[in-house]
Amino acid sequence: MSFKVPRGTQDILPEQTPKWQKVESILRDLSRVYRYKEIRTPMFEQTELFQRGVGDTTDIVQKEMYTFEDRGGRSLTLRPEGTASAVRAYVEHKMFGAPDQPVKLSYIGPMFRYERQQAGRYRQFVQYGVEVIGSADPAIDAEVISLAMDVYHSVGLKNLQLHINSLGDKETRDAHRTALINHFQPSIGEFCSDCQNRLEKNPLRILDCKVDHAHPLMESAPKLTDYLTEESSKYFEKVKEYLDVLGIEYVVDPNLVRGLDYYNHTAFEIMSTASGFGAITTLCGGGRYNGLVQDIGGPEVPGIGFALSIERLLLALEAEGIELEVNDSLDIYVVAIGDEAKKKSVELLSSFRAKGISADMDYVDRKMKAQMKSADRLGAKYVIVIGDSELEEAAVNIKQMESGNQEKIQFVELVNYLLEHK
Ligand code: HAM
Repeated sequence: MSFKVPRGTQDILPEQTPKWQKVESILRDLSRVYRYKEIRTPMFEQTELFQRGVGDTTDIVQKEMYTFEDRGGRSLTLRPEGTASAVRAYVEHKMFGAPDQPVKLSYIGPMFRYERQQAGRYRQFVQYGVEVIGSADPAIDAEVISLAMDVYHSVGLKNLQLHINSLGDKETRDAHRTALINHFQPSIGEFCSDCQNRLEKNPLRILDCKVDHAHPLMESAPKLTDYLTEESSKYFEKVKEYLDVLGIEYVVDPNLVRGLDYYNHTAFEIMSTASGFGAITTLCGGGRYNGLVQDIGGPEVPGIGFALSIERLLLALEAEGIELEVNDSLDIYVVAIGDEAKKKSVELLSSFRAKGISADMDYVDRKMKAQMKSADRLGAKYVIVIGDSELEEAAVNIKQMESGNQEKIQFVELVNYLLEHK
């Protein structure tokens, strides 16, 4: 019997992890400069949290959750996204009472959705996300969008497009909802059964149906933007003004509705416009969710955030032909000839590593020539070969691989030499 990774998941192999670590360190650095403190929540939560948070009529809740019963008979779900968990933690730990408001959180971790596997769509993927809870200042909307854009600029991506929209407030949504029902009702028989169910429960969800997206009634459907209340319009204008101040270009996209129920006011997505990018071009999505904190049992506190997956970020890098510079270097490879030399190598390796110098040697009994080859393959910056005469002299020729230059150095001086030259 042979085993394979479960469908929709992938192994990140040792050759690939340096790239991941590089991206993760860029993300952590950006969180630090923007001052979004990291939160780590469990990988699973009570199922009801997502039903209430993400929304009962969304694809995520209806079709994509990994839900299971634990041995105590509780219904638990592997988190499909991070916002509901962050808000749950915010309420549970009464962060609304903290002296510094708003609360600015960030997270990196795996999320799980039972989706059809295709390029850029996995069943386990790693999201980086941020949530700002406790501010309804349009300047924070612009800050959140700016942080998302900075992520992509920091890794060197150029072919990006920011789409923004306003989903308005409750009044906006109610008026739009009625208009949508009137629009779709006469022809609802032509739509899939999910859409038929959505008509009364949540007609907005019809607009992001993956089955009927090409139906002509989709294009002519009433736009939320035509129903914005004066207050919502003003808010949206302010957000755009701040984006202009930041020099961030955007496209106002009235069709952008997002696939989760908690959104209102600002909604945004960042797309890759690189020609080599696959069918799914959305790299990042987010928006405002005033009302979610209350839905999850907290006070009436507004919020906004976004999430992006590292998988799609890496695909976008590939599409633009960008190689991240990663630190995977080997400072020195020690070749040993004979038992005594090997003991010395073990000792030297330990002294190198204690000073942060990356060092390696042979552990599979290879001949000297093969060891040299190994050093070359591993990209060692320096190589030393220890045999009987080196032991006698307590010194060794250290060879810089790139130039081929050699210098004789006492064993006791090697660490200092490398610290100066590596
Ligand atoms: P979302 O649009 O469902 O929003 O997902 C955000 C991002 O996660 C997507 O733009 C994409 O980069 C990535 N993503 C989603 N599903 C997959 C998948 N199957 N495979 C690979 N990547 C995927 C949310 O999750 C919201 N919680 C975002 C948010 C935070 N809104 C406010 N705060």
